[in-house]
Amino acid sequence: MSVAPRAGNGKVTVPDIVSRKTHSLAGRFETKQKITCLTAYDYPTARLLDEAGVDILLVGDSLGMVVLGYDSTLPVTVDEILHHTRAVRRGTQRALLVVDMPYGSFHVSLEESVRNAVRLVKEGGAEAVKVEGGERRIELIARLVESEIPVMGHVGLTPQSIHALGGFHVQGKTVDAARQLERDARAVEAAGAFAVVLESVPREIASRITEKLRIPTIGIGAGPDCDGQVLVFHDLVGLTQGHKPKFARQYVNLAGEISRAVASFCDDVRRGDFPTDAESFHSPGQLREQPLARQRT
Ligand code: KIV
Repeated sequence: MSVAPRAGNGKVTVPDIVSRKTHSLAGRFETKQKITCLTAYDYPTARLLDEAGVDILLVGDSLGMVVLGYDSTLPVTVDEILHHTRAVRRGTQRALLVVDMPYGSFHVSLEESVRNAVRLVKEGGAEAVKVEGGERRIELIARLVESEIPVMGHVGLTPQSIHALGGFHVQGKTVDAARQLERDARAVEAAGAFAVVLESVPREIASRITEKLRIPTIGIGAGPDCDGQVLVFHDLVGLTQGHKPKFARQYVNLAGEISRAVASFCDDVRRGDFPTDAESFHSPGQLREQPLARQRT
């Protein structure tokens, strides 16, 4: 199901992502080419993003909020994420395909967690999974890596912990919280993750963590010094309704474009301007004059 990585075919792999970050002579870690990552939840979007050259496509559990209409990511199930992963897989040739382990899929036991991650790889075509949480996930990350499943960590604001955190707030704002954040990022690296998402943390803390970690950091609301950046696709193209975080730069207003196009369609139909004769099929000449045979009732 997945696209087998072959040397030279341009396929982005886990080792490629890891190798973007190098150890400089000054003893610091550096990234020569920043990593780009966007969420995707369906086939046409995956094709567009893949062809545009995005390095990593993430089937995030943000799926629940931006596509399925839930008011948090908590209700998303393994079956829902699998359904969308298969569609994204079919549209992805080059990018690395990373899939979120949804809430509840890794909280019961290590065995069940590995079983769920294996499903994402075997049935969905995921090349890596993403797991929210820091120090608490050391054992899980190690087990997944041992099972040949590359893991992307995710620390800082972890939306699956929304009830424990008390809302979508910037994390790491006190000395203790900043220290914990650094411990979480280091723990994820030590457990074997190949990269880590830093979400909604002060730029200064993200920068310090990025300098210290061997693995790439991928920021969202974590400032410009991370090794890469991730955004929710719907935020980038202006399709998100409701609150937009300040880091979510909108590059185009697709919601406005879609509304205008749909309003024009409705006007055209109501005025009788759609479809035109040129947009219609025609009968062959000899049929045009002949009445259709009457059907007996
Ligand atoms: O679910 C998601 O889309 C994510 C990204 C925002 C990192 O976790």
